Amino acid sequence: MAQKILVVKSSPRKDSNSSFLADEVAAGARKKGAKIEEINLASLKIGPCKACDSCQKQKVEYCTFQDDMIALYPKIVEADSIVYATPIYWFTVSAQLKLFMDRCYALMAPHHEVGDASPLAGKAVVLCATYGDDDPLCSGVVNARGTFIDFCAYVGADLVDVLHATAQEPGEIRQDKELLEQARAVGQLIAVGEEPLPPA
Ligand SMILES: Cc1cc2nc3c(=O)[nH]c(=O)nc-3n(C[C@H](O)[C@H](O)[C@H](O)COP(=O)(O)O)c2cc1C
Repeated sequence: MAQKILVVKSSPRKDSNSSFLADEVAAGARKKGAKIEEINLASLKIGPCKACDSCQKQKVEYCTFQDDMIALYPKIVEADSIVYATPIYWFTVSAQLKLFMDRCYALMAPHHEVGDASPLAGKAVVLCATYGDDDPLCSGVVNARGTFIDFCAYVGADLVDVLHATAQEPGEIRQDKELLEQARAVGQLIAVGEEPLPPA
């Protein structure tokens, strides 16, 4: 059966670099027969987690807060792989993506199981991040990567790759042919349920 891939974009910009990178992962996956669903958090109304803990107390299936996040929970659960795209803002993921991640707390509620049986367990995750700084070490992408390493370890998901590049102006990423090729290759691999080899 075709792999289902959810692409979660979070840039508010037109011709977004991080979104384009994620599109290339999706293009590679589509080529191998994957079914792609795409959402852009920047065009949705998603509020912050209120820490009411209703989700943890099993009072609701997902979250009491009735905003656009409610429709996203089933999409997250049903996806085999999730490709996240974020601009680096103030040395970490965008606020749009962080809100979404906080709201994923509801998926860790007892009635959704935790650890290996969590709804996010076993999913392949790819992070696509772009930044303005010429030096990745100064850009803050290491913090976004660190967040995803911890997030994926906690929910039992499998962070298969972090694709990142300097691209300050809208659309600048299009010039990075090598990275775009790598993105398509990663897409092809997750579409067939394989992981890229770690870099030599
Ligand atoms: C509010 C804001 C904060 C930013 N913070 C950083 C930063 O901490 N480090 C960095 O290297 N670039 C930073 N940038 C530049 C963006 O990360 C860069 O332009 C990126 O490619 C935008 O991705 P997008 O085209 O997908 O929106 C920032 C840009 C904005 C608007």
